[in-house]
Amino acid sequence: MVQTRKVLDVLDGETVFPPPVWLMRQAGRYLPEYRRTRKAAGSFLDLCYTPDLAVEVTLQPIRRFGFDAAILFSDILVVPDALDRDVRFEEGRGPLMKPIDAAGIAMLDGSNLLNHLAPVLETVKRLRAGLPDETALLGFCGAPWTVATYMIAGHGTPDQAPARLFAYREPAAFDMLLDLLADLSAEYLCAQIEAGADAVQIFDSWAGVLGKSEFQRFCVGPTRKIIAAVRSKHPQARIIAFAKGAGPLLTDYRRETGATAIGLDWTVPLSFARELQAGGPVQGNLDPMRVVAGGKALDEGVDAIVEALGNGPLIFNLGHGITPQADPDHVTRLVQRLRSL
Ligand code: CP3
Repeated sequence: MVQTRKVLDVLDGETVFPPPVWLMRQAGRYLPEYRRTRKAAGSFLDLCYTPDLAVEVTLQPIRRFGFDAAILFSDILVVPDALDRDVRFEEGRGPLMKPIDAAGIAMLDGSNLLNHLAPVLETVKRLRAGLPDETALLGFCGAPWTVATYMIAGHGTPDQAPARLFAYREPAAFDMLLDLLADLSAEYLCAQIEAGADAVQIFDSWAGVLGKSEFQRFCVGPTRKIIAAVRSKHPQARIIAFAKGAGPLLTDYRRETGATAIGLDWTVPLSFARELQAGGPVQGNLDPMRVVAGGKALDEGVDAIVEALGNGPLIFNLGHGITPQADPDHVTRLVQRLRSL
């Protein structure tokens, strides 16, 4: 069958030039149309759990920029929400939830997961039916380590000290938590694939605060477990794994997790990115601040990535999510520059 979705061609190992593009957090507060829908929705979770609205905000950046992939609009913290952790998103404070302890971990019950997330799965279904044929649909989840950091602290922190401390003090409970999150994440990703996601991404946004042996145990192990479980049901599943801040550990990460492609943050040197690309597709890695800056900084950043990685399998993306202060016109410029190469 002729594959019309370039992002999937790249995930299958092909070099596509110019490279297909989407941006992490492409649906979000930098877009005025998002801010309007967000306001009408009430709470952030209402937006995630109302398929009409979640479909609308997923499609907004596709309409405006014509990206090669749409990413389901939801959040990694809907999984703890399904575990009754009372997740809230407060203006200016980021995510909040009840902090969990060892006794709480022993009592977690994941049996309601897919029931709780049925509206999100409905969104996936409607999206695949409504997207242009050439646009890939990406599902996602948070990696167990990153989700656990929020569950333990009850909020975001700059260095995830509460989760690191908990992992040293309560190793058995911590392992139990990572294990449960890996099982539930695999179940959730399978359900997204069954609802129509063409590929899925696992976000390990806080990988970079760990030492080597902790990275191995808390990031590599659980991510490998998720990927193996998804592939036991869907052997052809395309899975992008993004371990932000993992640096030189990405070589082992790629090999040991079995991810189809790895996401690169903007601190990964392009020379090292080329070595990683010899092992399979890569995604990244423009500094989101270049999109805020625009102009020459934006153009040079785009050109350098394409120059270094454009003759191998590359999905062009940012090295982390686009920020609220980014100018949508700079995104238009980014896409135009990429497609004019
Ligand atoms: O467009 C897309 O990328 C899809 C939607 C998406 C969101 N969050 C929407 C969102 C995705 C893939 C995520 C992933 C996510 N969520 C991650 C991993 C990626 C990363 O950025 O590191 C993490 C760590 C979270 C947890 C989370 N959600 C935080 C820390 C915050 C607050 C920080 C912030 O930017 O406000 C959120 C809220 C959130 N998730 C927003 C959006 C658009 C903004 C909240 C709002 O609109 O009110």
